[in-house]
Amino acid sequence: MVNALNYAEMRALARRRLPRGLFEYIDRGTEDEVALAAVREAWDRLKLAPAVLVDVSERRMDTVLFGRRLGFPAVIAPTALAGLVWHDGEAALARAAARADIPFCVSTQSVTPIEHIARSGARLWFQLYVWRDRQLMLRLLERARDAGAEALILTVDTAVGPNREYNVRNGFGMPIQPSLRAAIDVLSRPRWLAGVLLRQLLADGVPTYAHYPPEFRTRVTRPAIADAVRLDDRVSWRDVAELRRSWRGPFLLKGILRVDDARRALEAGIDGIVVSSHGGRNLDSAPPAIEALPAIVDAVGDRMTVLVDGGVRRGSHIAKALALGAKAVLVGRATLYGTAFGGEAGAGRMLDLLRDELGRTMGLIGRPTVASIGPDSLVPHR
Ligand code: FNR
Ligand code: LAC
Repeated sequence: MVNALNYAEMRALARRRLPRGLFEYIDRGTEDEVALAAVREAWDRLKLAPAVLVDVSERRMDTVLFGRRLGFPAVIAPTALAGLVWHDGEAALARAAARADIPFCVSTQSVTPIEHIARSGARLWFQLYVWRDRQLMLRLLERARDAGAEALILTVDTAVGPNREYNVRNGFGMPIQPSLRAAIDVLSRPRWLAGVLLRQLLADGVPTYAHYPPEFRTRVTRPAIADAVRLDDRVSWRDVAELRRSWRGPFLLKGILRVDDARRALEAGIDGIVVSSHGGRNLDSAPPAIEALPAIVDAVGDRMTVLVDGGVRRGSHIAKALALGAKAVLVGRATLYGTAFGGEAGAGRMLDLLRDELGRTMGLIGRPTVASIGPDSLVPHR
């Protein structure tokens, strides 16, 4: 029974369960964590303008995205190494997504391969990081397609590795550096040690990036990832055009923060974008995605699907994102914390909380359907 009442409680439970190095990898930002703080402040600054005396007895949180119904306007964000927070963590997240009737986006860097996650019956999206060896990358795309991935997200905001100094201090640089400090950290979390690490070691050996091809697959404890599967820092619009040609379903770019890039995505035939500062994890001077969102929605919102992510901790945040013109949000840390504490039930609990809070917010602002939430649901900026 996972009886956390909100995100903050779920995070606190996860914090007690996970080794510090892993918790901080998930929780923190980059450099001085200015972007991370800005994300939080940006949500709090936005105010909803409640319309009163509206019949809200039938509140409907479901919506339609790329022609398919969603239980509520959210998608589980791609997060690397989710399989480290719970045994088979990615499959647990996928099952929770299936029950909430929303898609789960599998990361290129997941611990569980997409073929295994697909057995959950969840609607899957696939997130791509471009490898230097494009042939290998295209084969990975074929695997994703064959496993039933509906949509492809190309993440475009990680051209170079971000500077996350706490990971270095914690010995949680990728690949993990074995250290006395890391060993003490892990030993202080016996439930995680037994329930996640030892189970993983017994079942599949040292956790790896499961999608990396067998001949290159590097255990996360090894010093270097083979050059062929290194994230490419030369990715350009030409790659986007090629990927557009090879992927038939909905294709999204994640990590767009500029209007000109959004327009360019539209010209490249992209179906959607995720306005995102990567949860404040990459560029510390990045604006919060929801601040960049309105101008982007103005420019392209009528011609492509605009999603947003970063710091979604409450259903009211989803209402605000919708009011600013996003069609749905991506949820990263919140469901990871749910999974870390309670596997599928924990992730499911977090999704239930977000959906219920959204419904309550909709009732309080007099907007009983997702479609009825619009710019006039927000207090105008003074
Ligand atoms: C991420 N994110 C991410 N994004 C991506 O495109 N590929 C990835 O592999 C990862 N990995 C990853 C790991 C962890 C631990 C986190 C917390 C995040 C970013 C993610 O998709 C999303 O943009 C943010 O997490 C959204 O912010 P919140 O909801 O976590 O605040
Ligand atoms: C992260 C990378 C993997 O945010 O996207 O940790």
